[in-house]
Amino acid sequence: MTHSISYVSTADPSLRQEALSSLLDTTKHRNEKSNISGILLYADGNFMQVLEGHQEQVERLFEKICLDARHSNVIKVASMDYKHPIFKGYASGFSVIERPKDTQSLKTYLNWLKNHPSKKVNKMIDLVENFIDHS
Ligand SMILES: Cc1cc2nc3c(=O)[nH]c(=O)nc-3n(C[C@H](O)[C@H](O)[C@H](O)COP(=O)(O)O)c2cc1C
Repeated sequence: MTHSISYVSTADPSLRQEALSSLLDTTKHRNEKSNISGILLYADGNFMQVLEGHQEQVERLFEKICLDARHSNVIKVASMDYKHPIFKGYASGFSVIERPKDTQSLKTYLNWLKNHPSKKVNKMIDLVENFIDHS
């Protein structure tokens, strides 16, 4: 079983491009090392992140992320278990996407996932698509 937590948040407005890029790079690197899959999206001052992995590990990481001053208004949008990590198959594990770069390939991946029989997986796809389409 994979546990997943997803949230949206507001980036600290004083976060400059360089600090943002460094946050995205570090996150990708750290998560790949600790076998956390998922995505971190940034668009127009907002983040959306999906974290997937062992429940305890994901919960601990989420608690830490909530305390990070580089964003605020953290709202958990879903917390669920599913059989296999959804995003492990996309771009080798943990992806970070800064609009408008890469959105197309993520959309293609999400469309492909829609054949998935699990309702939970489809709910997650909807959440991510909504973020991409409305940001
Ligand atoms: C929007 C956002 C998303 C983050 N996502 C992750 C993440 O997925 N993995 C991670 O290790 N740190 C992430 N961080 C950074 C953590 O909040 C924290 O700074 C980092 O894990 C270092 O923790 P440490 O000082 O306890 O080593 C994120 C920070 C922000 C603002």
